[in-house]
Amino acid sequence: MNVLVISASPRTIGRTGVVGRYLKNSYDVELMDLAKNPLPLYTGEPAQAESEQIKDFRKKVLDADGIVLVSPEYHGAMSGAAKNALDFLSADHFRYKATAIMVCAGGGKGGINALGNMRTTLRSLYANTIPTQMVLDPVDIDRENDTLMEGIVPKVQGLMEEFFYYTQAGIEIRKAKAKG
Ligand SMILES: Cc1cc2nc3c(=O)[nH]c(=O)nc-3n(C[C@H](O)[C@H](O)[C@H](O)COP(=O)(O)O)c2cc1C
Repeated sequence: MNVLVISASPRTIGRTGVVGRYLKNSYDVELMDLAKNPLPLYTGEPAQAESEQIKDFRKKVLDADGIVLVSPEYHGAMSGAAKNALDFLSADHFRYKATAIMVCAGGGKGGINALGNMRTTLRSLYANTIPTQMVLDPVDIDRENDTLMEGIVPKVQGLMEEFFYYTQAGIEIRKAKAKG
């Protein structure tokens, strides 16, 4: 099973990156950190499609059996970095694949709008976003040790367990579709 985690904060010192690295260190997943490797602004120009960076990004998502998208909530929505990354992709990258969504919010009961916003956009891409989703507040992030606080770990484990089941189901569905 090939799982890609996209950490979609533009900030290298951000909390979202801590979540991405936690997932990388805890599970057999590949991490793409958009703070460390920012994508250009999508223009749709043919030259962009030819760039090695965009070809590599699109291939990574295409090759993934499941995708975890972790974004900060900025002004009631996913980050510009997250939406811009998704603008480079199409339904071909997501159809019959599980996605899981996680949001880092400011701790003032925020996060749900970004989650809703990500779910709507991913549906437009024909992704199968799993029902369980989560908001991580600043209190859930242990910045000093670059990991998650213990209290939030069971929730993350529950989400990932469900995500892996759906990812496996997606693999079976794509196999069955390929057979015809
Ligand atoms: C431009 C901006 C807008 C934000 N808007 C919201 C918001 O609408 N709701 C919220 O809960 N937090 C908001 N926050 C707080 C961030 O979600 C929070 O700091 C989160 O940890 C950011 O992730 P990052 O550290 O990876 O950038 C905002 C922060 C910034 C910089």
